[in-house]
Amino acid sequence: MTKVGVLASGHGSNFQSIIDAVKSGYLNVSIECLITNNADAFAIERAKAHGITSMAILEKDFRTKDDYYRKITTELQTLGVNLVVLAGFMKLVGKALIEAFPMRIMNIHPALLPSFKGLHAQRQALQYGGKVSGCTVHFVDEGLDTGPIIIQAAVPVLSNDTEDTLSERILKYEHEIYPRAIKLFADGALSFEGRVVKIAE
Ligand code: GRF
Repeated sequence: MTKVGVLASGHGSNFQSIIDAVKSGYLNVSIECLITNNADAFAIERAKAHGITSMAILEKDFRTKDDYYRKITTELQTLGVNLVVLAGFMKLVGKALIEAFPMRIMNIHPALLPSFKGLHAQRQALQYGGKVSGCTVHFVDEGLDTGPIIIQAAVPVLSNDTEDTLSERILKYEHEIYPRAIKLFADGALSFEGRVVKIAE
């Protein structure tokens, strides 16, 4: 069975959508833990409510970025995690973690990559004047939002959109495609041709 470790920084609505998908039976994985980089993350409450182990591991408590990510890696490995899910983890993940979980770390980004990488993707889409945006689930490599794309959903940008209204519209689709991408991984339906992720029919 796929053992998932979730990393989150804040509200954790994507984390919740994964919990819900497990509870409903859609997703046959076990969520082993939540790790946050923020002791006040609301995601911690969600973990508690569902009996999921949570740990706040703060970068300031470590001498180097490498030490920090080595600690996170060790915790995940100790629990036997084989898929790391970044659910609003607002940090560029360190090398130690990426090397320990090659093509076994997923992220969700609130834009259609490779457009609007990095922070405030919804604001970037509005300012650029794109008429369609959306969300992307991708594997994590060492770049910023550059890893192989697993699933995307397109969402219209309306002329009266604010950052909030667009974010909310995109978030609904995030909650659909993230569990779907994890299910494809857990079912063994994903393979690679170079950087292209193939999905078995
Ligand atoms: C989402 O928009 C996600 O795409 C981005 O950060 C936001 C996290 O939201 N990476 P939540 O914490 O899952 O509610």
